[in-house]
Amino acid sequence: MIIVKLGGSVITDKNRENTARKRVIKRLIQEIKKADRRIILVHGAGSFGHIHAERYHLDKGFENEEQLKGFSITHLNVRRLNRIIIDCLQRQGIPSISIPPLSVVEMSDGRLRYISTGCFVRALSLNLTPVTFGDVVFDERRGFSICSGDMLVLGLSRYFEPERVIFVIDEDGIFDKDPKLHGNAKLLTTIDYRDLPSSSEMVYPDVTGGMGGKIEVIKRLAEQGTEVVVVNGNKRGRLYRSLKGERVKGTLVTGG
Ligand code: IPE
Repeated sequence: MIIVKLGGSVITDKNRENTARKRVIKRLIQEIKKADRRIILVHGAGSFGHIHAERYHLDKGFENEEQLKGFSITHLNVRRLNRIIIDCLQRQGIPSISIPPLSVVEMSDGRLRYISTGCFVRALSLNLTPVTFGDVVFDERRGFSICSGDMLVLGLSRYFEPERVIFVIDEDGIFDKDPKLHGNAKLLTTIDYRDLPSSSEMVYPDVTGGMGGKIEVIKRLAEQGTEVVVVNGNKRGRLYRSLKGERVKGTLVTGG
């Protein structure tokens, strides 16, 4: 089984509130269909989540009543994006079900404490594709926290031990420095997780930690022995070929 995370900056226009990139979503889902592998699909929130979460400072946990409106709006909107994904999977002939983190995840002080895996297990055993996503969830200390898709990938990988995790992002892979700021940034094609740049060198933060947060998650995945591949979702065929186990332009993180 493979866990695929579709990044929010690939499937949405990050700068325009609640704007899905429907053509890209359709193509990526066609690639998943064609590859015909058993997967758990995790997707980010992009502009359906980050804009609202930032507006209401949801990353700080519960501080005031006004944030409850933000909690509700953010959850509603990430579900809207999830509905777009599920509808597309359905149309492409991939039977799938939505598993909202709000109902199956508990956090404590911003850390994932528990995922109820029963629905994932049962869906996979019936050959139904489980789909989950970055969401706002309850936190026993802070009231609520943001649970990123990357955190879910880490939690699910600990339980399911997938043969590979594929992160689909809007860059060719992981670079030695932020490629959006440095024209001479070099793509890291194969790298041991111990040699990954530190997250502080990769600060382009958002409410879930941006690329630095992703690198921390990737380090922990590789440390536990999971193969991690990072590919560009804007380039046709790279997700398909990675699902097939072929090497494509991107980053392969090894170690463990
Ligand atoms: C963020 O999830 C969830 C919310 C802001 C509610 P992700 O961190 O997985 O989303 P992307 O991939 O960065 O958009």
